[in-house]
Amino acid sequence: MTLTGPFKQLLTMDHLPEKGPLSDDQLEIIPDGGIVHHEGKIIAIGNFNELKDLHSLALVDWLEGDYVGLPGMIDVHTHICWAGSRANDYALRLSGKSYLEIATMGGGIWDTVQKTREATVEELADAVEQRAYRLLKLGVTTLEVKSGYGLSVEQELKILEAIALAGSRSMADLVPTCLAAHILPKDFNGNERQYLELIIEKLLPEVMIRKLASRVDIFVEKSAFSIHAAKRYLSQAKNMGFEIVLHGDQFSTGTATLANELQVHSIDHLEAANDQEIQILAKGNVIPVVLPGASIGLGESFAPARKLLDSGTSLVIASDWNPGSAPMGNLLTEAAILGASEKLTMAEVWAALTCRAARALNSGDRGSLKQGNIADIIAFKTNDYKEILYQQGQLRAGMVWKKGEIVK
Ligand code: NIG
Ligand code: FE
Repeated sequence: MTLTGPFKQLLTMDHLPEKGPLSDDQLEIIPDGGIVHHEGKIIAIGNFNELKDLHSLALVDWLEGDYVGLPGMIDVHTHICWAGSRANDYALRLSGKSYLEIATMGGGIWDTVQKTREATVEELADAVEQRAYRLLKLGVTTLEVKSGYGLSVEQELKILEAIALAGSRSMADLVPTCLAAHILPKDFNGNERQYLELIIEKLLPEVMIRKLASRVDIFVEKSAFSIHAAKRYLSQAKNMGFEIVLHGDQFSTGTATLANELQVHSIDHLEAANDQEIQILAKGNVIPVVLPGASIGLGESFAPARKLLDSGTSLVIASDWNPGSAPMGNLLTEAAILGASEKLTMAEVWAALTCRAARALNSGDRGSLKQGNIADIIAFKTNDYKEILYQQGQLRAGMVWKKGEIVK
């Protein structure tokens, strides 16, 4: 048993509502706090000195200086299993070409697909492991990882295997998602319906049997899949027992109704969502996931995070780290910038990175610091939690614990 602390402030992120606006005074802050943990789980949380008396046999993992502690961040949307670089696309965008134009010219997602297809499982697993470690050091203790740069039955299986291999070697927890429906592969001899049928018949049963993923995602957009095709595909995947999510409203609207109708677990992107769509989402239980890294990477506007919260929905912020639209891969910086632009309170930003994010991955055992949860903890060298978002990502997690073990 170990007692970690003292933390000048411990933000538990506990007891917060799942939906709607949050004010900073709703945050539970334990001054001079401590956490007792054993075998990766939190046993007790409270005042450090009181815990020290109560658990006198516990080893003390002593923090010198002032630290603010929080639950580890959860990044619910990444595409970190890729090979190659799209720096060239980025340069083209800076010189005026749009993301969709570049895709039409043969760059974009298809370019990454070709490079990823050439990589071995081992090479891809290494890349995922390194990127997951980079995120872990920044305080991301759980992350979702999508496939989607294989776009054939064999290649998607290869990518999901690489993610599983990386997961088995990483300290961070990796949650895989099958995004075989990322775009219609250019070398597929057929239409979107035929491609999605192939995925349903040949890929998803294998993914299910081999437990390579329990979530299925699709990119609904003019350059990807139609609403009509997505409806059929996601319903079939849901009937097979997968949890379903979607990339929606990135450039064009129309997916909020689909999301509600199918009761997808989350709708991710929403940069293009209008007031009408926000109202539709407010009527249901779909979790909106916004991806400021994609707005920054593409030089486009942010998703209407403030309006979503004010309408009464939940709000989760994820990095979308990928080689094309979101190359930065720094969740805290991206969230801080979104917060400044969209006027999100600090409580709303932190909830979107922790407790509300946990729900987006159905991970009830993390996202808040409380008894019984896993001891995923991050600490920033400051005496005031407000300094963290104020420094817009430059104040980095000085300490990270994954299941009670020190990462750095
Ligand atoms: O979430 N929008 C679709 N997929 C990714 C981008 C992938 C890429 O450009 O390589 C996204 O932004
Ligand atoms: Fe994405």
